[in-house]
Amino acid sequence: MDIEEALKFTDNLALTTTGKHLDSLQKAILRGAWDNQKYKEIAQEHHRSEKYVKEVGFKLWKLLSVALGEEQVSKANFRAKLENLQVSNLSLVGNGCIHIRNISADTFYSPKVSQPAPQDKDKFHEKTSNSEPKIHLDLSDAPEPNLFYNRTSELSTLENWISSRTRLVTILGLSGIGKTALTLQLIPQIQHEFDRIIYRSFRNSPPLASLQTDLIQFCRGGAPVPAPSPEERATTGGLPLLEYLRSHRCLIVLDDIQTIFSSQQLAGHYQPGYENYGTFFKQIAESSHNSCLILLSWEKPREIAALEGENRPCKSLQLNGLGTEAQEIFREKGLAEPEKWSELIDLYRGNPLWLNIIATLIQDLFGGSVSEFLSYDTLFLGDLESLLEQQCDRLTEPEKQVISSLASEAAPVEISKISAHLELSPSALLQAVQSLGRRLLIEKVKQGQKTLFTLQPVLIEYLKNQH
Ligand SMILES: Nc1ncnc2c1ncn2[C@@H]1O[C@H](COP(=O)(O)OP(=O)(O)OP(=O)(O)O)[C@@H](O)[C@H]1O
Ligand SMILES: [Mg+2]
Repeated sequence: MDIEEALKFTDNLALTTTGKHLDSLQKAILRGAWDNQKYKEIAQEHHRSEKYVKEVGFKLWKLLSVALGEEQVSKANFRAKLENLQVSNLSLVGNGCIHIRNISADTFYSPKVSQPAPQDKDKFHEKTSNSEPKIHLDLSDAPEPNLFYNRTSELSTLENWISSRTRLVTILGLSGIGKTALTLQLIPQIQHEFDRIIYRSFRNSPPLASLQTDLIQFCRGGAPVPAPSPEERATTGGLPLLEYLRSHRCLIVLDDIQTIFSSQQLAGHYQPGYENYGTFFKQIAESSHNSCLILLSWEKPREIAALEGENRPCKSLQLNGLGTEAQEIFREKGLAEPEKWSELIDLYRGNPLWLNIIATLIQDLFGGSVSEFLSYDTLFLGDLESLLEQQCDRLTEPEKQVISSLASEAAPVEISKISAHLELSPSALLQAVQSLGRRLLIEKVKQGQKTLFTLQPVLIEYLKNQH
């Protein structure tokens, strides 16, 4: 076994045990351990503190010890342990499938890439010899998980919803707020409830027909998708996937679904050719089946607003920024002056991506001094500008007018105050405000009975820079 095989094997093992791939630092620690490097050297090469690298290493060795059922795996013995592993005990990297403790993680099995041989297809539906069901997991489309802090209340809300048979869950939030990271964290916590788990990114905006074929193929263990019989058509309402969602408990995660919505239209309007997704989401929420669809999006699909409710099997979670736990990001980046960190978290609304970008900038330009960074009058955006541009480019003209008006207000205002500056009909104004809410671009503030609207500081700064 060489280091590349060892990494692949360990990554498979981590994925099977925790539902997460190894991140880049964990891989660097394994490479370092393989080459007998010191923690100090690994830390220097990866611009992290030695203490932090040791902490990550400690957790990694603990994970491997548990996963391999070996007595203590450590940095010193990692190479020897792997080289000594009997290939017969575990089916290793060759077929991309490992089988440990009755959990078969067909992690790298992807219908798009490899098709199992015909004789293997039936095995896909088999249960293991004892009564524990096999879990079939395809996270091949998911990014590698990274460091993750807190979100315990969001995770427990999602877990409760899913355990109580919610069929459609939408996680909404601005880019970088942590929707994907949260979902990858959730999967290992709920995977025992499912027998099929698949994650698909919508970065290439798949038409519904090809998504459905892909999902059915996964449910069938890679076998070709047969044309539905007339009876099946009648019982699945033209959605053959439903048959599989009824016969298996599947968890389907569809990420970045904003790619199927139109730019310069109110939030949640489908692009031409994607309108049938509206009916698809509605069918998933309303038909009887045992599965769960999780949607991750910058915008709320319009149907969802009408379908969701306390006692309904359709729910949505608006993801806000991290609170004080975001300080861990600054600690990990080695910023100075912890007493100033909460100000920074508030200004950037706890968005972990933004905080990471800003922390790197503070480290690069001010040697980690937060007060020096904050001494500038303007809120620095840097690379955030292009991220905000992507979201603001999607707005309609009335929405742009509303956010410009809000950006010029010193304090939160009522809707009537927004309209005073603009030449918009009342209905155009209300539609624009509602749509901005569905994109999570405006903040609501309650003042007694009144609802006031405002923008977050980063967006105000972005709009100022546009003029
Ligand atoms: N709870 C968290 N703790 C630490 N880092 C986090 C957390 N959540 C997210 N991050 C980090 O923030 C960055 C953005 O997260 P993520 O990609 O999940 O955002 P997103 O909401 O899915 O964004 P997009 O809509 O653009 O896909 C990633 O680098 C991720 O590792
Ligand atoms: Mg994402």
